[in-house]
Amino acid sequence: KDKINIAVLGLGTVGTGVVNLLKDNAVELSRRSGHDVCITHVGTRRQRDDIDPTIKQSDDLMAIAADDDVDIVIEVIGGKSVAKDVIIHAIKHKKHVVTANKALLAEHGNEIFGLAEEHGVQVRYEAAVAGGIPIIKIIREALAANKVDWVAGIINGTGNFILTEMQQKNRRFGDVLKEAQALGYAEADPTFDVEGIDAAHKLSLLASIAFGIPLQFNKVYCEGITKINLQDVVYAKELGYTIKHLGFAFRREHGFELRVHPTLIPNSTLLANVNGVKNAVMVDAHPLGQSLYYGDGAGAGATASAVMADVMDLIYVINANTPSDVPHLAFVPEELSDTRI
Ligand code: HSE
Repeated sequence: KDKINIAVLGLGTVGTGVVNLLKDNAVELSRRSGHDVCITHVGTRRQRDDIDPTIKQSDDLMAIAADDDVDIVIEVIGGKSVAKDVIIHAIKHKKHVVTANKALLAEHGNEIFGLAEEHGVQVRYEAAVAGGIPIIKIIREALAANKVDWVAGIINGTGNFILTEMQQKNRRFGDVLKEAQALGYAEADPTFDVEGIDAAHKLSLLASIAFGIPLQFNKVYCEGITKINLQDVVYAKELGYTIKHLGFAFRREHGFELRVHPTLIPNSTLLANVNGVKNAVMVDAHPLGQSLYYGDGAGAGATASAVMADVMDLIYVINANTPSDVPHLAFVPEELSDTRI
């Protein structure tokens, strides 16, 4: 197959980022994949006149997802209802899917991954966790020989941006949140960012691949940053600490512990110095020990980079003509399949 045809469903911050990436880095993408990688369809409610006229624009997402010409469907609509229907439709039509939709996967991933396996296609989601940091690939592939003891980190860019600005510039929560929205960091409903829900979605995805357990979003202890005020910031500073919103996934003797909440950490630690929209994920694994991954956790470019990394992987899968030999979960040990907190 010389040409790989891609459909991008949704033209918000991430969808537009993907379209731009394909335009800017067409040479790299085609050289590295050995194919002409083209967007042939975009799914959008409103016609856009800034899109290459050779790309078909339509609001009929189901038709695009089932189109015989499309090899890979990128879902960047967000939300849970339409996105879920479209992904299921694409899977049933034997399309590989790339999605950045952590909310959907954290809550319905077990069903979606199961269906993909049944139909011999893959659902990839690098962009769903920690933006541009390739943490899914790292845990699933680079650390594949390790036993993971814990994963911890800053996994919401908007929240980290807000906390950084509050602590370094004494800015107000609401003002910084508005800026994060304008910069394209925040979720459509920013409550997800500031109440820790987005981090909890991501943590359940991380835990599932790190420990080989099913997704269990409803078992994550979840607390956001909305109760932190400038007074807290002053006290933390006096004591030599930084306030960070962290996600933790621990392997415990009788199960797993998953939680997201604000944490006081000493200024001298690496995580205390991860600022702005940056995310960082630390993994403690045997035999590697601790390793740390750092990069932009949100925004059009970082997210598009992760989306296209998945597309490139899928091109290798299509080339190798192996349907679905990389399961979503590295392994599922029966006795460890439940999370207890
Ligand atoms: N709203 C998310 C964040 C986007 O701020 O981290 C990236 O997942």
